[in-house]
Amino acid sequence: MRTGAPANTVLIATQGRHNVGYVIAYQKELLQHPAMHVTAIGVHPGYRNQGIATLLMQAILAQHPSLWLHVRVGNVHAIGLYHKLGLREVLRQPHFYRDEDGLVMGTPDLLTVAAEAG
Ligand SMILES: CC(C)(COP(=O)(O)OP(=O)(O)OC[C@H]1O[C@@H](n2cnc3c(N)ncnc32)[C@H](O)[C@@H]1OP(=O)(O)O)[C@@H](O)C(=O)NCCC(=O)NCCS
Repeated sequence: MRTGAPANTVLIATQGRHNVGYVIAYQKELLQHPAMHVTAIGVHPGYRNQGIATLLMQAILAQHPSLWLHVRVGNVHAIGLYHKLGLREVLRQPHFYRDEDGLVMGTPDLLTVAAEAG
């Protein structure tokens, strides 16, 4: 499902009549490089570890091969998922969250962009 401006994407995963997961993304540059920013992804606790988030992210990646997002350094599930999808750590952001550091993870092309930006 798509809503809003063409650059904004909301995908909802359903099982039967239940909405069980979602991803929200919109076009936003990282270090002046055009890319898709995934602002939120979530799967209902009763439906996790069944590949739903993988499918949602793969659907975004199929349309937008350059993609980035913020994640807490302690969110091992999400970081494991992103690694599995080929995303890499682009930047570490001390105290990005009130109580924890953050990571910017992104597709490998963004590693080059970050390296060139210093
Ligand atoms: C992160 C989240 C979206 C993953 O959803 P999901 O549908 O369970 O994910 P999938 O089933 O597609 O993928 C699970 C993958 O997560 C990773 N993973 C799962 N458990 C893990 C663990 N204990 N340690 C490390 N990685 C783990 C693995 O890479 C796993 O892939 P595999 O099954 O092939 O090994 C879900 O846990 C969630 O909604 N969390 C709360 C919201 C959140 O943290 N969102 C991300 C904010 S950046």
